[in-house]
Amino acid sequence: MNIKTTFRFALVAFCAMTFRGASADNLPQLGKSPIKDVIKAMTIEEKLEFIHGTGMLISNTNGPVAGSIGSVVPGAAGTTFAIPRLGIPAIVMADGPAGLRIDTLRAGDSRRYYTTAFPTGTIVASTWNPQLARKMGEAMGEEVRDYGVDILLAPGVNIQRNPLCGRNYEYFSEDPLLSGIMGAAIVQGIQSNGVGASLKHFAVNNQETSRSSVDAVISQRALREIYLRGFEIAVKKALPWTVMSAYNKINGTYCSENPWLLTDVLRSQWGFKGMVTTDWFAGRNYANQLKAGNDLLMPGRKAETKRIKTALESGQITEADIDKNVERILQLILKCPAFKHYQYSNHTNLKAHAAMARQVAEEGIVLLKNDAQTLPLPKGRLTLLGNSAFDTYIGGTGSGEVAKAYAISVAQGLEIAGYKIEKTLFNTYVRHIADEKAKLPKRTNILQKIDNLPEKTWTESELKQMASASEAALITIGRNAGEGADRKVETDYLLSDAEQSLISNTAKAFHAQGKKVIVVLNIDGVVDVTSWRDQADAILVAWLPGQEGGRALASVVTGEKTPSGKLAQTFPVRYSDVPSATAFPGVPISYPDSTIYNEGIYVGYRYYTSKGVPTAYPFGYGLSYTTFAVKQLKLNSNAFKDKLTATVTVTNTGKRPGKEVVQLYLSAPATKIDKPRMELKGFIKTRLLRPGEAQTLSFTLFPEDLASFSEQNQAWVADKGSYTVNIGNSSEHIMQRASFVLNRQINIKP
Ligand code: BGC
Repeated sequence: MNIKTTFRFALVAFCAMTFRGASADNLPQLGKSPIKDVIKAMTIEEKLEFIHGTGMLISNTNGPVAGSIGSVVPGAAGTTFAIPRLGIPAIVMADGPAGLRIDTLRAGDSRRYYTTAFPTGTIVASTWNPQLARKMGEAMGEEVRDYGVDILLAPGVNIQRNPLCGRNYEYFSEDPLLSGIMGAAIVQGIQSNGVGASLKHFAVNNQETSRSSVDAVISQRALREIYLRGFEIAVKKALPWTVMSAYNKINGTYCSENPWLLTDVLRSQWGFKGMVTTDWFAGRNYANQLKAGNDLLMPGRKAETKRIKTALESGQITEADIDKNVERILQLILKCPAFKHYQYSNHTNLKAHAAMARQVAEEGIVLLKNDAQTLPLPKGRLTLLGNSAFDTYIGGTGSGEVAKAYAISVAQGLEIAGYKIEKTLFNTYVRHIADEKAKLPKRTNILQKIDNLPEKTWTESELKQMASASEAALITIGRNAGEGADRKVETDYLLSDAEQSLISNTAKAFHAQGKKVIVVLNIDGVVDVTSWRDQADAILVAWLPGQEGGRALASVVTGEKTPSGKLAQTFPVRYSDVPSATAFPGVPISYPDSTIYNEGIYVGYRYYTSKGVPTAYPFGYGLSYTTFAVKQLKLNSNAFKDKLTATVTVTNTGKRPGKEVVQLYLSAPATKIDKPRMELKGFIKTRLLRPGEAQTLSFTLFPEDLASFSEQNQAWVADKGSYTVNIGNSSEHIMQRASFVLNRQINIKP
């Protein structure tokens, strides 16, 4: 029996079991009858099945695992139960944030079901271009719709609290405004296709160590201003159909069992009208999950039915409580393609989506250093070094992986663009990578980390010879991480000895002949740069750029595209400078598995700028091949009433067309509430400006932009006093300032 048949068989058996003998004619039908009547017609057994999924749809890196429950869409992460007698279809949910994750192989089918590996969250955020992110979301959603999936389990808007979080690559930024706006854009794009998004992981899921049990011990203020804020922005702006509650606890309570989080904050305060699903197998007390406002338990386990039944019998939960969850799941189903009998084609526009993936990667690549205009690099003979140049990491591991048709490596991209890469070098690396991979255990599941391969070493004379035979050297440093494990400082955040020697020996050999060395960081998250950057003439961060990464990088190297990416997180001078360095991933306190967020709101640039700690490259930073002048900052008033507008003019003063990201950081008076030196309150990416061309940008500040969360008042409070608008192109490069006053304190109820 194939998977599809097994699944349908299970559904039929289930329906037969719960069918109470009524004829379909006089039964309420979803979409035709009032929803309350549909719920009334459900048996308690049906309700208990309905509030959880049909079970784990296991597949590994090669396709479905024998014996797992199948889905109509193999490789999807989960499915709800259908109740045909009431007109309720099953809906399908699939990962994830870098594109649709489904199996490429299907039983008895020779076709390959590929999807697009889009650039990952961090590089999307580095574009600082929500309009582009929205378009990427549209392309992602198209694949979801075309392959018969109803909900995409994406995007992830958790904060990059610490560089070592294994899933940072899926997330956008250390800043909640940037995370929330990019998250909202992706949600809007996905949902414009008539399919749903699932905003995740709600909330404070900032580490993989002990992820399903860790307790985030955190202040109300840090929660509201940093860890919930991105979710709040995305929920209010984009109305995601679903939110996924996180594995961890917050101050002692599992997120999926937390009525304050899921009902008071999410629904009552933010007005969320959608459905909440658990993360897969999250939480412990199923009845408490339902009561807290977590409507669907995924992927679904038999034990859940039994335990909830017991909770019902003991009065811990009532049928009326469960009806609320059922109603929200039904409301969701009503919107889904499955309910509308959408005839999906099982074909998607992979070509157009690859072009979109390339465009996003091109805009997200960040130029960190470019001494003596090393870049753009004239096309010529190029020495290419480093494993990840030939075997480029395009995405991270875990549920964020995508079964793409191909991936363009850095080497391929540069070659296609016209650089000449010595064939023997190419072949040597291909062999070295294959030999080293053969020593590793076979990768059988998506949670298995991909180990970094040892770098090949080159002798002084080999490098000297390469330097004479080429115009420049390009070295890539690769890092990969993913779900289930955090990174380490040694040999991960820090470069290995072999990588350090590769950079320094190459630099010595090439510089001796007056030739340039470019380093490309093909990384999942922040790495050390201070120990080696002086030896590089130019540095580009390509992050995990998706399947078109190699081509995108080449467009920037050639100068066909002027880099316009900006860091969405700080690169510190040393790891120990990170405000959560000693608290990550946690220390046991009164109970095991706790992480104390003792840095409070001082995450990322809020910390570095307030405490005067120097950084290697600050938040918001990124160079261009052209130059921009940012002038004429004007405020429409010098006193704040209901809102205030700031306008500024950006001019391309250089010789190439380019885009600039103008950032507005607000400094607020710290009379009653302690305040960071400044906080990002707005950003705009210009259109492509030709040399000499100018664009006037307009930012609007609203009362909530001035406020901080006061635990004492349980409200957002803006102190009266003088505020400064700082306009810059990084958190440490402010080009224009202007002040306004707030004459009376503003209090805003959350
Ligand atoms: C991950 C989620 C993912 C889910 C379904 C979990 O392990 O944390 O992000 O959506 O699995 O695959």
